[in-house]
Amino acid sequence: MSLYGYIAADAGTNCICDLRSDTMTKPSAGMREAMIAAPLGDDVYGEDPTVARLEQELAARLGKDAAVFFPTGTQSNLAAVMAHCGRGDEMIVGDRYHLFCDEAAGVSVLAGVSMNPVPVSDDGGLDPDRITAAIKVDDPHYARSRLLSLENSVGGRVVPLDRIAAGVKVARKAGLAVHLDGARFFNAITALGCDAATFAAPFDTVSVCLSKGLGTPAGSVLVGPNSMMGQIRRNRKILGGAMRQSGVLAAAGLYALEHHVPQLAEDHARAARLADALRSTGIGEVQCQTNMIFLTPTPEDHARLTSHMAQAGVKIGGQSPAIRLVLHRDVDDDALDAAIRAFQSFPPST
Ligand SMILES: Cc1ncc(COP(=O)(O)O)c(C=O)c1O
Repeated sequence: MSLYGYIAADAGTNCICDLRSDTMTKPSAGMREAMIAAPLGDDVYGEDPTVARLEQELAARLGKDAAVFFPTGTQSNLAAVMAHCGRGDEMIVGDRYHLFCDEAAGVSVLAGVSMNPVPVSDDGGLDPDRITAAIKVDDPHYARSRLLSLENSVGGRVVPLDRIAAGVKVARKAGLAVHLDGARFFNAITALGCDAATFAAPFDTVSVCLSKGLGTPAGSVLVGPNSMMGQIRRNRKILGGAMRQSGVLAAAGLYALEHHVPQLAEDHARAARLADALRSTGIGEVQCQTNMIFLTPTPEDHARLTSHMAQAGVKIGGQSPAIRLVLHRDVDDDALDAAIRAFQSFPPST
């Protein structure tokens, strides 16, 4: 098992179903064809028409001026923070959000920005009172509070729009900018039945990942106002993320927007089906929203369950105490049925 808590890739060579993450998705046949057919150019010269088309498409969908294509969500988030904050500034962020926990403190290491973590509530949001309490007064002793960074969805949970609005309101009142890590933006709007522009409206910048449930091999897009785009492109260059014929990846993103976004609801339905099946096994507590399930077996059953599933050819996360199970487009009904049968054949110790 890796330090990151996932079962290493060699666990169960006869893999029939991989529930560790939606990042496991491989490009579909149609996506591969679109990648091959894409018109390309050198995007550092601003000459890749497919990258330009993807950036325009996402900016339009999210109701923002413009967008920049990045290799990863981590880099897109970091470039956004660097555009909002200078050295010695501070961002307020959820204490369980990816930017705080899982991006190697890049904003501190590379941008000199300190992170002020606020406890994440059960719904995945941040309490407005706690945001207010975290905002520092202007005093030479303190870091300057400059940015509120939110995430949605959070571990599969969709933070309700009124919760987001309440947090953004107190941030705006104090003059803070607001960024959204929308790695699973399209899962969230699918679950809410909300349009992309409404969901994106409260934020200055939004980072959207294409390489999770949307199934591209790489790529994230940072969307925001024209006034920030020059700095964001410069930040991408500083971070080494300016790519050449990246239209080959952008074509995958365009294909995903057209063909894979409408299918996300199928992942959510399969997650609900797996959650129902798990509840009747008595293995442990089950929570499910969008495409993610968190299953908490007893501590005695934890390791036994992961090895039982690996032997049945089903890869599951090794996180503890709750194991994350993620439905995605590379888990079809047959694979899901096999996973359900494997869970059903596990004898819980109590
Ligand atoms: C919520 C969230 N934000 C950001 C990222 C970073 O994306 P990437 O792996 O492309 O750097 C991830 C990756 O899993 C994520 O789950």
